[in-house]
Amino acid sequence: MQLNELVIAIDGPAGAGKSTVAKQLAQTLGIRYLDTGAMYRGLALAAQRAGLGPQDGERAAEILHNLELDFGPGTPPRLMLNGEDVSGLIRTLEIGDLASSLSTFPQVRQEMVRRQQAMVAKGGCILEGRDVTTVVAPNAHVKVYLTASLEERARRRAIELGQEMEYLEVRQQIEHRDHRDINRSESPLTVAPGAAVIDSANLPIDQVVERILELCRKVTA
Ligand code: DC
Repeated sequence: MQLNELVIAIDGPAGAGKSTVAKQLAQTLGIRYLDTGAMYRGLALAAQRAGLGPQDGERAAEILHNLELDFGPGTPPRLMLNGEDVSGLIRTLEIGDLASSLSTFPQVRQEMVRRQQAMVAKGGCILEGRDVTTVVAPNAHVKVYLTASLEERARRRAIELGQEMEYLEVRQQIEHRDHRDINRSESPLTVAPGAAVIDSANLPIDQVVERILELCRKVTA
């Protein structure tokens, strides 16, 4: 097996560094990058535009059935919602929170998982999210649970969001979102059997990437 044929799955809480790590790995290995959270965010944006709220998961699932959610070219790939590039619009705390609420509904998850598994079936890719090591790709060649303390994750996210929000508010929102993602009844965020747990708090991104590359080399050796 070649490195570019691997399926690499990374789960972890908000702000753990999953997308930064996934982007670098995708570039280094020349494989596709599947940001499953972006798909949930795309649905949240469509739901918000339709006037839906966090309790409207069943209606959101209906919307999802007629929604095109594709990744455009580029690294990181753009998220296209019915052909519209919404990559910038989905990166807010509000949309992240709505995505988290809607993702607790089994009807939403089933359809997302179906689409994501079809993408994984095409071969070599890196995917990241909250259920990719447990449900979407439990047989991935490399499985990682990437985490860091709440304080560190909130600090990073606050920098990412710029002046838009105070650190304490970001921390509170992330804590709330983690709680929902970890405690939902439908495929909660958890460490999958066989997943390597990596704490990114005191590890530069390059070293996180290097550790995952080592796991990849072991699989292909
Ligand atoms: O990774 P993110 O912050 O873009 O994800 C937004 C929300 O989407 C997250 O809080 C929960 C949901 N999600 C999920 O339930 N399963 C995934 N595989 C990815 C994201």
